[in-house]
Amino acid sequence: MKVDDIKTIGVCGAGTMGAGIVQLAAQSGFNVKVIDVQEAFIQRGMSIITKNLGRLLSKERISQADHDAIMGRISASTDATVMADADFVIEAILEEVEAKKALFAQLEAVCRPDVVFATNTSSISVTQLAGVSARPDRIVGMHFFNPVPVMKLVEIIPALQTKAEAVDLTIELTKKLGRTPVPCKDTPSFIVNRILVPMIIDAVRVYDSGVATAADIDTAMKLGANLPMGPLELADFVGLDIVYHIGNMLFEYTKEARFNPPDLLRNMVQAGWLGRKTGKGFYDYAERT
Ligand code: 3HC
Repeated sequence: MKVDDIKTIGVCGAGTMGAGIVQLAAQSGFNVKVIDVQEAFIQRGMSIITKNLGRLLSKERISQADHDAIMGRISASTDATVMADADFVIEAILEEVEAKKALFAQLEAVCRPDVVFATNTSSISVTQLAGVSARPDRIVGMHFFNPVPVMKLVEIIPALQTKAEAVDLTIELTKKLGRTPVPCKDTPSFIVNRILVPMIIDAVRVYDSGVATAADIDTAMKLGANLPMGPLELADFVGLDIVYHIGNMLFEYTKEARFNPPDLLRNMVQAGWLGRKTGKGFYDYAERT
């Protein structure tokens, strides 16, 4: 299959990442079929897209006709058989091997045999996921960044079993989505998270040892290192549970203490202070929501 043969992209999972991928694909001119397991998850994902496109419309970045055409290209369902129409599938469901394995089985039953299944996993080995699929040579890591409509990078991760043509197709599709593909070996956290997460973890240690307030640490890093967000603000944005999980995984893999999440991070996660999504993390979002 050539990239120009891809007309319809299937997206599995309508969470923050899935919704972002749906929006990006529809804005790039593809028809998009999105599935999730519950109608409520689909509603939530569609409301993220509606809000984002509404913002682009009000800023006159897109016309009303563009807006309507983008929305018209998206169709959502809780029925995985709609994926029979997909020429390329991107999964962004929960980070559990068993859940992904069950999804692959559903997709394998309905999708054409030449369809590539890309995974947006950030914390599971792509080779392991290929191993639980019946078409391991067509599983490719395609790791997007949050917020997907804004972030230009996609890490491309072949599993050990992946055929070169599936990787090439994923790279070409990434370019058609207006994103920059960066190939990367299948190693824990790939490139960005492997560098970014220890920086966030270090910022938590700096904060915990009373060097400065969270706001001052973030201001210092924004102005002194030219980051768009300070590391603690970014932790709240990404989710403290995700940072904690990735830190733990890297620590397990490398045994390097620098990856080991500090007690404060673990306690905050256990307290349910996960950042923006729960209204509290290093900052309080209750008043802003
Ligand atoms: N969805 C869609 N668009 C969004 C958005 C969202 N959630 N948040 C902001 N935007 C858009 C705005 O509409 C605006 O668009 P415009 O330029 O066309 O007007 C543009 O982004 C800039 O937004 P703002 O002016 O409101 O705010 P900022 O200038 O502060 O930018 C930001 C917001 C883009 C989120 C910026 O702060 C940023 O880049 N932060 C760092 C994000 C980052 O590092 N992400 C990677 C996290 S790691 C990851 O995702 C990996 C995973 O595996 C954990």
